[in-house]
Amino acid sequence: MRLLFLGDLVGRTGRTAAIERLPALIADHRLDFVVVNGENAAGGFGITEEILGQLLAAGADVVTTGNHVFDQREALAFAPRQERFLRPINFPEGTPGRGAGFYMARNGASVLVINAMGRIFMDPLDDPFAAIDRELAACPLGEQADAIVVDFHGEATSEKQALAHHLDGRVTLVIGTHTHVPTCDYRVMARGTAYQSDVGMCGDYDSVIGMDHREPLRRFLEKVPRERFAPATGPATIAGLAVEVDDTTGLATAVAPLRVGGVLSATTPRFWVD
Ligand SMILES: [Fe+2]
Ligand SMILES: [Fe+2]
Repeated sequence: MRLLFLGDLVGRTGRTAAIERLPALIADHRLDFVVVNGENAAGGFGITEEILGQLLAAGADVVTTGNHVFDQREALAFAPRQERFLRPINFPEGTPGRGAGFYMARNGASVLVINAMGRIFMDPLDDPFAAIDRELAACPLGEQADAIVVDFHGEATSEKQALAHHLDGRVTLVIGTHTHVPTCDYRVMARGTAYQSDVGMCGDYDSVIGMDHREPLRRFLEKVPRERFAPATGPATIAGLAVEVDDTTGLATAVAPLRVGGVLSATTPRFWVD
């Protein structure tokens, strides 16, 4: 089977590009399962239920999030009832919503998706390693789950790489999100887990991590906030990682980066050679 993971959608340009392109990507590359990080989909901050519905209608199977999950307060209300919407699993007990879910792919395979958040340069949270281990004990790869995707939302590459080694051979994919900048270390690790430190964002890369560069730059120059951050509005690059999965083991056999449109696409290796 083939999985596709798309990084944080930032603002209107990022989410529109993803919604418009997803149906053709799914058809052209015969994708069986698609996960999208939607934490910045609504004006750069959080996600609305309407946008969640648009992403699911376009072909996303699961929408993951991160530290911005509840920036739109309506997410507190819809998170518990939207089974395809995940927030980090290591949030404190009692937080609305869920951090993992079990879904059926287009080819009939069962896919466990786990969303977790790092703790280095991030808000203090429960241990993500232990939280993921508990999920995997209940639903091991190759038994209950035909594939397992872990979205690890974090700032520090060291923490992401450590988690990748911790999970190598036990999950299909460990994919970093949150920094909004794609790293070039995508690969299949020694025991068969696909990994990339950060998948990057779907958004306008002529920006500061998706935001119009002027206000962030001003705050570095003079430390006085003058305006709100607003998403950049230029053409978006869709950034993602595709993973070919061995149907018997659930481990990855190949990975391919996806970068379509916008300023990053010209410098990127061709996506998915059949
Ligand atoms: Fe983000
Ligand atoms: Fe984030």
